[in-house]
Amino acid sequence: MSGLPQLDDLEVAGRTVLVRVDFNVPLDGGTVADDLRLEESLPTVRRLRERGARTVLMSHLGRPKGKVVEDLRLAPVAARFGELLGAPVQAASDTVGEDARAKVAALADGDVLVLENLRFDPREEANDPEFAAALAGLGQAYVDDAFGAAHRAHASVVGVPERLDDVAAGDLLAREVGVLSRLLEDPDRPFTAILGGAKVSDKLGVLDNLLGRVDRLLVGGAMCFTFIAASGVSVGASRVEQDRVDTVRDLLARAEERGVQVLLPVDVVVTREFAEDAEAETVPVDAIPPDAMGLDIGPETVERFAARITDAQTILWNGPMGVFEWERFAAGTEGVARAVAAAGGFSVVGGGDSAAAVRKLGLAGQVSHVSTGGGAALEFLEGTDLPGVAALRKDR
Ligand code: 3PG
Repeated sequence: MSGLPQLDDLEVAGRTVLVRVDFNVPLDGGTVADDLRLEESLPTVRRLRERGARTVLMSHLGRPKGKVVEDLRLAPVAARFGELLGAPVQAASDTVGEDARAKVAALADGDVLVLENLRFDPREEANDPEFAAALAGLGQAYVDDAFGAAHRAHASVVGVPERLDDVAAGDLLAREVGVLSRLLEDPDRPFTAILGGAKVSDKLGVLDNLLGRVDRLLVGGAMCFTFIAASGVSVGASRVEQDRVDTVRDLLARAEERGVQVLLPVDVVVTREFAEDAEAETVPVDAIPPDAMGLDIGPETVERFAARITDAQTILWNGPMGVFEWERFAAGTEGVARAVAAAGGFSVVGGGDSAAAVRKLGLAGQVSHVSTGGGAALEFLEGTDLPGVAALRKDR
């Protein structure tokens, strides 16, 4: 995989190895509500233990803004990780303080320790040199397995690897970079991308970068209404980013020039009230009542999208098709999830909400790859050289 130092080449036996993981997981009353990121971190930690490393895991959790927030302590996450690992996992009550230093010093070969939430210290996000040096001073080698945080130029992501000679990409990071690179560099054709989510403005970079690479672009989610408006159809009270209509019109023209087939919804589920139990009806896209807003794609659209998903060799899905947290507006996202899972092609679900939807439906095992990265996956697909990935390269 392109120029990244491999975990297998790293000397780890008897050494303290600092591993940046992304344990930024949803918590529900102090319990981990989604294990995806923990499960995906297991292979690297297992390999390090087998090879006799003393593993020190470092992560952020939430956005505590440089202060200790009791609900964002990593101890419950460390406990859950220990259950999944099937081995004891200790937790330190600080990051570079007395407790962490003492616990690191007491580690035996094969032991695993999780430092406290890095973002309790404002110096993490500031990539403060002293903080980075203190973290780096805890170990002799560094592994980055936090793909989900690779777009953040923070101390534990870029400052620590800058200060250690022995660095490597963990299994998860290597796999994520490999899969997403394949989409951008060498996709089997036809290549279908399905994009959704609330705001088209969040996806313009990805749309721009994918336009030269995909054969079909399927657009759902609230962002589709800016596309529909750009194509000259009235969308009633649906969400439209007026300041992006011209950009989207230009994008549609470029898609046509390049022969990229763009599929927009032909029917939508509308309501007059933005509420979970609001009355909903399905209407053709060119018949949205002036006072109604679209909150999901309709069944005919799902069928058309599914046909272009099923016959693709490469599939990328990012962003829900509607307000899938609400049952009445979940059918579009579920339909697309089922089509992606049933497709025979190489399928990638790009993080965040769409990954959550696939997992909620129990379909993750039928998708080739579910990314652990939300913002990181998007930035990668925009063509950005992520700081966390760049920091690992040998020529860094
Ligand atoms: C994520 O959940 O996308 C990553 O953990 C990064 O979190 P952040 O957006 O708070 O930096």
